[in-house]
Amino acid sequence: MEEKQDVLLEMKDLSISFYNKTGEIQAVRGISYTLHKGEVLGIVGESGSGKSVSSHGILRLTPDTGKVKQGEILFHGKDILKMSKKELQELRGNKIAMIFQDPMTSLDPLFTVEYQLNESLKKHTDLDGNGRRLRMIHLLELVGINQPERRLKQYPYEFSGGMRQRVMIAMALSCDPELLIADEPTTALDVTIQAQIVELLKELKDKLGMAIIFITHDLGVVSEICDKIIVMYAGKIVEEGTSRQIFYQRCHPYTEGLLASVPKLDSDVNEKLKPIKGNPPDMSCVKPGCAFAPRCSCAMQICVKEEPPQYELDDTHVVSCWQTIKKALQDA
Ligand SMILES: Nc1ncnc2c1ncn2[C@@H]1O[C@H](COP(=O)(O)OP(=O)(O)O)[C@@H](O)[C@H]1O
Ligand SMILES: [Mg+2]
Repeated sequence: MEEKQDVLLEMKDLSISFYNKTGEIQAVRGISYTLHKGEVLGIVGESGSGKSVSSHGILRLTPDTGKVKQGEILFHGKDILKMSKKELQELRGNKIAMIFQDPMTSLDPLFTVEYQLNESLKKHTDLDGNGRRLRMIHLLELVGINQPERRLKQYPYEFSGGMRQRVMIAMALSCDPELLIADEPTTALDVTIQAQIVELLKELKDKLGMAIIFITHDLGVVSEICDKIIVMYAGKIVEEGTSRQIFYQRCHPYTEGLLASVPKLDSDVNEKLKPIKGNPPDMSCVKPGCAFAPRCSCAMQICVKEEPPQYELDDTHVVSCWQTIKKALQDA
C-alpha cells in the first residue's frame, strides 16, 4: 500500500482544449497520474501529443485561447486549479519550478547571469546580499559550472548551449523546488551534452530529493533517469509503467514504435531505425476508436470503432490497447 503522505502530485482526469474559429482542438483528453515525493516521471510522445499542454497546466500556464474543461491537479492534496492568485504565486516561485527546451527564451540576453540569478533569489528567498552571492556560487557549482565567480559576470551568449541549460537549471533550483518540470530540456542539444544534462538532473535529484517530470519525444533519453514513464498519444495516456516495464515489457504498438525509432544504448550500430509511419491525428476532429489505429499494424475491427479502456496488467503497468487486452485475456 502506498502511503498517502508520500503523494506529491495527483493529476485526475485532466482535459484541456483550445478554441479557434473552426472549433475545438482537444489537446489533452482525460489524463490521470500520480507522482510521489522524489520520484522521476517521464512523459514521452511525439510532437503534438499533449505533453506540454498537460504539464504547463500544472502551473496554470494554459494560454487564454485554451480552457481546462475538467479535472483536478492536486499538489499536496490541494487543487491547483482552484488556488487563489497568491497561492499560485507561492507555488510557482517556491514549490514547483520549470525549465524549457530553449534556455534563450527564459534567460534575458541583456543581463548578466549574476543579475538574473540575483533577481530570482531576491524574489524567492529572504537572503541578504552576501547570502545571495554565496547561494549563487553554490548553485553554479551544483550544476557543474566551473569558476562560478567569473561566470556570474558573463552574459547568456557567452555560454554554450549545454552551459546555458545548466544556468537555467541553477535558476530553477534557486527556490529549492519540490517538483521540477523539465520540458524537453535536452532537445536542442547534441547527444553528448544531452547525456550530461540528464546525468546532472539525476545527480541533483539524488542530492536534493526533488521530484522531476521529464518531458521528451525521445524515449531513449529517459531510460536512465525515470522511475516511471507515461506514453502519450493524441492527448491521452496509452501506456504507463515503470521504466523497466516500458523498456522490457512494453505492450502498446505505439510505445514499440517510439522505441524502434530512436537509437538504443544496447542496439547494434547497424540496426536500422524505423520511424512510425503516418502522422498523429488532427485533434480538431477526433474520431471514435483508438486514435492510433490508423497507423497501427495490428489494428483490428474493434480498434477503429471503440476506444480501448485502460487495462491494468499489474499494479504499475497500465495499457490502453485492444490487442493487448485480447492477448491478456487469452493468456489468463
Ligand atoms: N496555444 C495553442 N493554441 C491552439 N492549439 C494548441 C496550442 N498549444 C498547443 N496546441 C495544440 O495542442 C496539442 C498538444 O500540444 P503540445 O502539448 O504542445 O504537444 P507536445 O506533446 O509536443 O508538447 C497539439 O495539437 C497542438 O497543436
Ligand atoms: Mg512540447
